[in-house]
Amino acid sequence: MSAAPSKPKILVIDDDDDLRYSLKRVFSGRQYEVVEANSAEKGLEVAEKEKPDVILLDNRMEGMSGIEALQHLRGINPNAMIILMTAYGTTQTTIEAMKFGAFDYIMKPFDLKKILSITEAALATSSDLDRANKDESSGGISQEDVDGGIIGSSAAMQDVFKMIGQVAASEVTVMITGESGTGKELIARSIFQNSLRSQKPYIAVNCAAIPENLIESELFGHEKGSFTGATSQRIGKFELCDGGTIFLDEIGDMALTTQTKILRALQEGEIQRVGSSETIKVDVRMLAATNKPLEEMVEEKTFREDLYYRLNVVRIQLPPLRERMEDVPLLIDFALKRLKQDRKAHVSAVSPEALASLMKYTWPGNVRELENIIYRSAVMAQSDTILMKDLPREILSAVGADMSSPKMPTPKKEAAKEAELESKTAGEEVLLGAPEENAFDGAYRLLRSEQGNNILEHAERELIRRALEEVGGKQVKAAEILGMTRSTLRKRIDQYDLG
Ligand SMILES: Nc1ncnc2c1ncn2[C@@H]1O[C@H](COP(=O)(O)OP(=O)(O)OP(=O)(O)O)[C@@H](O)[C@H]1O
Ligand SMILES: [Mg+2]
Repeated sequence: MSAAPSKPKILVIDDDDDLRYSLKRVFSGRQYEVVEANSAEKGLEVAEKEKPDVILLDNRMEGMSGIEALQHLRGINPNAMIILMTAYGTTQTTIEAMKFGAFDYIMKPFDLKKILSITEAALATSSDLDRANKDESSGGISQEDVDGGIIGSSAAMQDVFKMIGQVAASEVTVMITGESGTGKELIARSIFQNSLRSQKPYIAVNCAAIPENLIESELFGHEKGSFTGATSQRIGKFELCDGGTIFLDEIGDMALTTQTKILRALQEGEIQRVGSSETIKVDVRMLAATNKPLEEMVEEKTFREDLYYRLNVVRIQLPPLRERMEDVPLLIDFALKRLKQDRKAHVSAVSPEALASLMKYTWPGNVRELENIIYRSAVMAQSDTILMKDLPREILSAVGADMSSPKMPTPKKEAAKEAELESKTAGEEVLLGAPEENAFDGAYRLLRSEQGNNILEHAERELIRRALEEVGGKQVKAAEILGMTRSTLRKRIDQYDLG
């Protein structure tokens, strides 16, 4: 994410004047900057000059086709997300487009909602990418330079980095395991980025987030009319990802029937769309992750043994944070740098006393919890240093630090209740895991204290941030979770600089 929020720039390449005009109107009215070109050749020039974030590219144009232009555009502007607009029914073109690194495709004619949501998704990915690139080039923590935002100087993490290096360039299937919040997604992405397929598509599928009856259609696609609601043909992730890498996250949550089909895709490189008997060849590298005990699941026969062995060719086991405490100060430093870079907080250090408490804590939620705790502490800090008093109470009580700070009085009974809660909810984020009464007691006390400024905003911001995180930045879904309209959400995202 860039520090000063600038308008995202969209390049529309289409020889249809009316369509260009409509798209321009739609996007300009929504805080986007739009540039245009009426041919592919012209589009290449404009792309070079304007460096757009997203390119909407028509396929059928006089002169150079969209597919041809796509390949040139990838060279000119590798970070731009390209969305190909194809005529209905040209599946082959779509597949080609994805092979050549398009972000997505849209069938003409399309409605406004659809193009807006695809563009938003493209922008979310593009800011992710920006950030990853920035991480690589910014100075400071040396591991960051080497590993693109993955921190760790402990021997255990060094071994993980070595393994990434060894397996990335091969085609081997990798299984990434580890407790929640240890960085499995980060590692999967890094394997992809370092692989020979890094210029090809990368699609992450969270198997736990998709309802069981929809996952097969999501993965393998479906034919029109193959089930109620299948009103048109759909190309699945495997087909879209042909030539690229698919990351099956939370694979331990996948139903047995789907497991069988995944096994076939792995073994034979073959899939079938739901409702079709036609076999389609796909060339996809698979990465998978889970925090479930797969070995036990194999024994209980809830996970196919043959699939387990196929996926588990190489296993990267991420150590929990409590087993590599020497990484904690580095991760804190990294989190503070990120907060600063994103202008979310301006804190550069942690006092020795506060650090000692953080080093005593056992981090059941691992790196994700650490990021969260540092963020919460940083917004509380009144100077540029996080002090003991700024640490969340759950940390202080867990490490047995004195809770009777005059600014945040905690009645004894409640402290005891909380300690008990703490042991029960280990592994969960306490604010959410705690009974409502208790969570709001603390928040209300904070509101009434001197540090209570902006607590409503902090709370709203944090809830929005989590919702967006959960759904991978998809605003439509996040708005649903939050129960707000998408335009309200978009306003909040701008207001809180969450874009
Ligand atoms: N080694 C690391 N260096 C820097 N940041 C990290 C590291 N490991 C994890 N993180 C950060 O911690 C957060 C959680 O990581 P990630 O989502 O990859 O965890 P996960 O293992 O997939 O968790 P879950 O099982 O809950 O899905 C992310 O914000 C990620 O960027
Ligand atoms: Mg994950």
